Amino acid sequence: MNKITEKISLSEDVVKMVIEAPDIAGKRKAGQFIVLMTDEKGERIPLTIVDSDTEKGTITLIFQIVGKTTACLAEMKEGDSLFAVLGPLGHPTEIESFGTAVCVGGGVGIGVVYPVINALKKAGNKVISIIGARTKDILILEDEIRAVCDELIVTTDDGSYGVHGFVTKVLQDLIDSDQKIDIVFAIGPVPMMKFLCEVTRPYGIKTIVSLNPIMVDATGMCGACRVSVGGETKFTCVDGPEFDGHEVDFELLTSRLRTYIDQEKVAMEDYRCRCDDR
Ligand code: FAD
Ligand code: NAD
Ligand code: FES
Repeated sequence: MNKITEKISLSEDVVKMVIEAPDIAGKRKAGQFIVLMTDEKGERIPLTIVDSDTEKGTITLIFQIVGKTTACLAEMKEGDSLFAVLGPLGHPTEIESFGTAVCVGGGVGIGVVYPVINALKKAGNKVISIIGARTKDILILEDEIRAVCDELIVTTDDGSYGVHGFVTKVLQDLIDSDQKIDIVFAIGPVPMMKFLCEVTRPYGIKTIVSLNPIMVDATGMCGACRVSVGGETKFTCVDGPEFDGHEVDFELLTSRLRTYIDQEKVAMEDYRCRCDDR
């Protein structure tokens, strides 16, 4: 059992949660994730480890409420305990002294890219961050990211804050301004990662993406998280979650993410009905 020690609402549908998990806090590296179960009968969902505190033995998660399990998790309170937390899982981000790294986060993906920014900075890189949200009210972690990187550019789709437009536009502008870029890390919605890879491809700028397929066992046994990278089948839970974005088949990822959409809708409706009855 893992106790929730802190819970904060970052926006309408994004929650930050700090959880007791001393073994994971002591070992985890940037880019790794956990799998959790809210209760004994709950499904297993993967979430990235955004931060950790080794003294307190805690890890920080930031998640968006998109379906039954994330809704159920968001209902839990400080002092409640999760049934199980497994990790750290996946390969850590390959951190080197690259030179200038651009880190792009979209929506809740901003939380996932935050530990990568931290690790790149600690390794001596110049880090330029681009973070984008649909509108100002749902932008997360602006102050935290500004505090750790060399330059931060914020975008909103509706122009309510920062640059008006998508993060892809800002990255194209940076490239056009002759900014030296040695590597790009991009984490967010699948269309964002796909189109960012198309921005960097003509210039041969290495672009790492973190993939979010459906996972079941997260140990490389079930094949649920399979993706195609460079024409080869890879299991995101054990081979990833980060891959060379120029090699990823994003169409396959998009279609596989929709495999259980009907069942997910039913589960969410059923969950909402049970909540309304309480
Ligand atoms: P599900 O029921 O599984 O729903 C999934 C999708 O179905 C939703 O995206 C939604 O579009 C659709 N859907 C569900 N119900 C409906 C409905 N009624 N109508 C229409 N569409 C519907 N997420 C984070 O927020 N933070 C993280 O740090 C994070 N890290 C991840 C790391 C990895 C390695 C991976 C693989 C994924 C990560 N994810 C993260 C994604 C997260 O695991 C999923 O969002 C989560 O599993 C969803 O579970 P769920 O039961 O709440 O939603
Ligand atoms: P969103 O739809 O609000 O988009 C966030 C930002 O991404 C936008 O402001 C824009 O700058 C950019 N973007 C979106 N679509 C784009 C496009 N077509 N072209 C260029 N840029 C685009 O994001 P959200 O609602 O917060 O959703 C977050 C998504 O991230 C979810 O789909 C979730 O599954 C995914 N996610 C991915 C990971 C991962 O590890 N890759 C982890 C958590 C969540
Ligand atoms: Fe089963 Fe990756 S989730 S193989």
